[in-house]
Formats: sequence, C-alpha cells, structure tokens
Amino acid sequence: MEASEGAEASRILIFGGTGYIGKYMVKASVKLGHKTFVYTRPVTPQSDPDKIKLHKELESIGATIIQGELVEHDKIVAVLRQVDVVISLLPFPQVPDQIHIIEAIKVAGNIKRFLPSEFGVEEDRLNFLPPFEACLDKKRKIRRAVEAVGIPYTFVSANCFGAYFLNYLLRPHEEHEDIIVYGSGEAKALFNYEEDIAEYTIKVANDPRTCNQVVIYQMPKNILSQIELISLWEKKTGRSFKRTHVTEGELVKLSETLPFPVNVRASILHSLFVKGDLLNYELGENDLEASSLYPNHNYTTIDQLLDIFIVDPLKPALAAF
Ligand SMILES: NC(=O)c1ccc[n+]([C@@H]2O[C@H](COP(=O)([O-])OP(=O)(O)OC[C@H]3O[C@@H](n4cnc5c(N)ncnc54)[C@H](OP(=O)(O)O)[C@@H]3O)[C@@H](O)[C@H]2O)c1
Repeated sequence: MEASEGAEASRILIFGGTGYIGKYMVKASVKLGHKTFVYTRPVTPQSDPDKIKLHKELESIGATIIQGELVEHDKIVAVLRQVDVVISLLPFPQVPDQIHIIEAIKVAGNIKRFLPSEFGVEEDRLNFLPPFEACLDKKRKIRRAVEAVGIPYTFVSANCFGAYFLNYLLRPHEEHEDIIVYGSGEAKALFNYEEDIAEYTIKVANDPRTCNQVVIYQMPKNILSQIELISLWEKKTGRSFKRTHVTEGELVKLSETLPFPVNVRASILHSLFVKGDLLNYELGENDLEASSLYPNHNYTTIDQLLDIFIVDPLKPALAAF
C-alpha cells in the first residue's frame, strides 16, 4: 500500500463504486492506502446475485459498503462526516441527482474535495451535436452548482476510457472480419486505461495543486487515430481487417433520427472520432494534465493495453474484478 502523492491518507467516499469505472476507483483507492467507503443502493436477498457478490468482493479488498438511496439526506450527511473526500461515479442519467450529494456536502461542512461524475470530455471548452450537448449540459449544470456553493472541487476530464473504447472499436473478443471506421479515421483520439484513470483520480482528489481546478488526462503515448489503432492491432494479431467507413454525414443523420439514447452514441462517435474533439483545444501553461502532475506513475500505453487484450481479450472488458 502507498499513500497518494503529496497527501496523508484521506478517507474517501465513492458514489457509483459498483459501476464500470467505479470498481476500478474503489480498487485504486484501497491500493493507495485510503479508508474507502462505497455508497450503494440497498440490496436484499432477492437482489441480483452478481450485485450481492460484488458487494462481498469490494468488502474483501477492504472497502466499507454503505447501503442507501441518494434521497436519504440524513444518512448521506452522517456518512460524509466520516470522510474527507467524495468521488461520484454515477452514470449519465443520474448526473442531475448529484444535487442531493451537493446539498448533503453543504450541510456536513467537512468535505475537503468533491469530484462530481465527469470523467469524459472537457465540456466547458467544446461544443457537440445536440444529443451529446444535452447530456453534457447536465454535467455543466452540476459544475456550476458545485462552484456556486463553494465546495472545494476538482473536475476530471479523463477522455476515452481505453479498454471500454478499444472493446467497442476493435471487438477483440468477437470473431469478425471487418472493423467500422468513423469518418476518415484520421482524427486523433485519446485512450486512457481505466486502471490509470482510477489511480490518477485518487491522487488528484488528494492533491492541493488540483483544488478548484480542471484536470485533463492527456497521456502523450495514448494519442492515436482509428487508422493507427487498427494498424497496430493488425500488427499484434497478425490479422487484416476490412475497413467499413461510416461517413460524417451518416453519423450526423443518425444523431438526428435515432431515438434516445442511441442518438447520443452517434453524436459521441462523431465528436471523438470524426472531429477529434479530445484534442481540439490547446493545453495552456495553467492547465493541469495528469501525467505531468504525476510523472512517477508509469501509465499503461495503448500499445501495452492491446497486449493485455491479446493475452486475455476479456480481462479489460471485465473491469477491476
Ligand atoms: N470517458 C469515457 O469513455 C466514459 C465511458 C463511460 C462512462 N463515462 C462516465 O463515467 C461516469 C460513470 O459511468 P459508469 O458507466 O461507470 O456508470 P455505471 O456503471 O453505469 O453506474 C455506476 C453506478 O451507479 C449506480 N446507479 C445506477 N443507476 C442508478 C440509479 N437509478 N440511481 C442511483 N444509482 C444508480 C449503480 O450503483 P449501485 O447499484 O451500487 O447503487 C451503478 O453501479 C459517468 O459520468 C459517465 O458519463 C465515461
């Protein structure tokens, strides 16, 4: 175990800790020496056995499970009083519900840092097609609410979850001959492995340099286009894939005609892979970038992540456990 750089081991409360990125985050928090609490909706003997098993797995690594609903204000305030840092990893639909967490943090009055559920694009600097824009507006509203109440915060722009998007683009665990390419495939994207996102986030959440700042995860070795990604994958697998292009016009049309939420997916693909939005703004000298803040953390490069997929295509897809 090690304590996060530049900080004593704070106590961390995680909302959404049983979710996709949440599991990585709980594991990283425990690994970095933090007493870790997970606020999760109640389970009963009739609940999904996988959820019950997951609670046990989280407890077995040392996390404390606290069962409750987001509307249980007094319960949340009581839990907040036992911790220092709050990280929310609630999914997109629950982003507005974080107002309950903000209200409780205000009442508790002891929280040193709040990281709301962000972990994607830097939404204050970019504009997107309407379905994605509508989702990000909800995240922006939460940013403004956090700022308005004066809670110490960090907003994390983690860019693409690496394993999540490599699974989506390359389908390493499926038999197939073709790979879909969005647009020309030449726009650069940014894929960061979830284990690194989680470890950087625990460090960021405890770092005085990142208080009331946006931190961007722009690891230099993780920038590549879809075409480069597919070529690298072909080299590693010794296979050759047919490229099937979906044009920009087709994606725009899909974003306009598909029902919610698949229209959001079309507009995300347009932003990330056709427009190359993740790299469509310059980092200024006052911007905080994770791999520069923590040069001692050897992050997993895309090349190394593809090697993990070669050894066991399902491992990265199965997340932390
Ligand atoms: N950058 C990227 O590539 C990328 C990719 C995916 C997601 N994200 C972002 O990462 C964040 C977390 O997303 P995720 O996909 O990891 O989340 P997720 O796995 O879908 O959900 C996280 C947890 O939220 C809780 N939850 C689900 N529905 C709920 C409800 N109706 N009410 C209360 N709690 C509920 C569940 O925990 P319990 O059952 O334990 O309560 C669940 O395990 C979001 O901000 C998302 O936009 C980014």
